[in-house]
Amino acid sequence: IPVDPFDLVVIGATGDLAQRKILPGLYRRHLAGQMPPEARILGAARSDLTEAAFRAMVADALAAHVDAAKQHPAEIAAFLKRIGYVAIDVSGAAGWGALKAALRPDVVRAFYFSVAPGLFGELAERLHEHGLATPQTRIVVEKPFGRDLASARALNATLAAHFAEHQIYRIDHYLGKETVQNLMAVRFANILFEPLWNAQYIDHVQITVAEAVGVGGRGAYYDKSGAMRDMVQNHMLQLLCLIAMEPPWHFDPDAVRDEKLKVIRALQPVPAPDIVRGQYVARDPAPGGAGYLHDAGNPASRTESYIALKVHVANWRWTGTPFYLRTGKRLRARTSEIAITFKEPPHSIFDDARGWRENVLVIRLQPNEGINLKVMIKEPGPGGMRLVQVPLDMSFATALGEDGTDIPDAYERLIMDVIRGNQTLFMRGDEVEAAWAWTDPIIAAWEARGDRPQPYDAGSSGPEDALMLMHRDGRRWREIRE
Ligand code: BG6
Repeated sequence: IPVDPFDLVVIGATGDLAQRKILPGLYRRHLAGQMPPEARILGAARSDLTEAAFRAMVADALAAHVDAAKQHPAEIAAFLKRIGYVAIDVSGAAGWGALKAALRPDVVRAFYFSVAPGLFGELAERLHEHGLATPQTRIVVEKPFGRDLASARALNATLAAHFAEHQIYRIDHYLGKETVQNLMAVRFANILFEPLWNAQYIDHVQITVAEAVGVGGRGAYYDKSGAMRDMVQNHMLQLLCLIAMEPPWHFDPDAVRDEKLKVIRALQPVPAPDIVRGQYVARDPAPGGAGYLHDAGNPASRTESYIALKVHVANWRWTGTPFYLRTGKRLRARTSEIAITFKEPPHSIFDDARGWRENVLVIRLQPNEGINLKVMIKEPGPGGMRLVQVPLDMSFATALGEDGTDIPDAYERLIMDVIRGNQTLFMRGDEVEAAWAWTDPIIAAWEARGDRPQPYDAGSSGPEDALMLMHRDGRRWREIRE
C-alpha cells in the first residue's frame, strides 16, 4: 500500500549508514511500489555537492548495496529523479534557508539524523531555529542514544524542547527485523505457548547475538562503547522485552511500549559473578584479521568485545527463570537466536528415561530465520519404550515460499513506519532512560573493580568463563553455529 506523499531529508547523506542502508532501502521501497509519485528524498551534508554529483553517488551506492536482481535501470533512473541535495552546516547558518525553500509545507516531513551522535541535540535546535519543524515533521534519531543515563536524559530534554514525543522516532534497527516482530506474532497469535510462558514451566531463556566480524574500521567508536553499550543496552534488551513482556492490550505504539518499559524496570542489578566480559585475540597467523587491541588502536584497552550476563526479571511471571544473554564479535559464526528451555514434566511414567531431554523452543533471528521446537517421541523399533528428541523445524523461507524470501531490510521497514506515523517499533524516551538506568551501575561497578576482560580466541565461542556461568547452574549454552 503506498504511503502518503513525503519529503524525507537524510542528514549525513554522504555517510556510511546512508549509503549502505538508508538510500538502498529507500530504493527497494520505491521498487516495491510503496512510494507515491510525489515522494521526495533530499540529501543534506557538509560537502558542497551539486545535485547531479549526489545522484551519481546514490547510483554508486545502489550498485554496491542492492541485489543485482533488483537493479533495473529504468527504476533506478526514476528513483534518482526523486533525489535532491542541499549542503548544510549543522553547527552554523549555511544552507538552512536553501533547505527550507526546497521543502513543501503541506506534506509529511521527516529528518533522518544520520550524523555523529554528538550532533543530535544541535540538529534539533537548528531545525527549530530555522523554522523547519512543521506540525507534520518527524525526526529519526539513530543509536547510540546517549552513552549513559545522564547523557540520554539531556538528549531527551533537548529533543523535547523542540519536538513532541510523537514526532521523535528513536531507531533500534533490531525492532525492524522481520523475525523480531515475529516474536510477538508467535507469542500472541497462538494459544499454544502463552499458557506455559512463565517461571512455572520455563527453566531458562538464552539470548545469543553472535557476530563473526570484528570491530574493523569502527574501532575508535567501539572502544569507547563496548558490547554492553553497543548491543546489550539496546538490541538485546529489546529482545528480552519482547520475550518477557505481558500481552499488550493492542498492537499499538504506547500499549506495546508500556509493557516493554515494565520489563526494563523489573530488571535486577547484576552482581559481578554473573557477568563475563571478553576481548578477542588473534593467534598467529590470524585468518580474518588481528586481535581486538589492534583493531581498537588501543593497546591498553579494557573494553569488552564480548559479554555474557545472567539477568533476573523480578516480577510474578519470571521470578526463578534466569535470562542468559551473550553477544560478541569475532565469534565462530554469525547467528542470533532465542532459546526457551522448558522444565521437566512433573512425573515420568517411563522406566527408561535415558533419552529424555528438555523441550526447547528456538527462535532463529538470523540467518535462516525460523522456529525449531524440540519434542520427545518414542525411538522407533521393537526395543521397548525408549525416548528420543526430534526437532519440529521450520524455516520461514521454506514455509512461506516466494513470500518468505523477499523480506524487507530492517531500515526500509522502519523508515516507512516513520512516514506512516507508526511508532510501535521505535523506542520511547522513558524506555531508553530506563535501559540506561539498569546499564549504568553494572558498568560503573566493573570500572570501580578495575575489571579486565578475558581474552578469547577469534573464531571461538567466547571466553571460558562464559561456559562456567552456565555450568555452575547445571546448564549449557547452545552451540554457536550457522
Ligand atoms: C549495531 C552495532 O547497532 O548492530 C554493531 O553498533 C553491530 O556493532 C550491529 O555489528 C549488528 O546488527 P546486525 O543487523 O548485523 O545484527
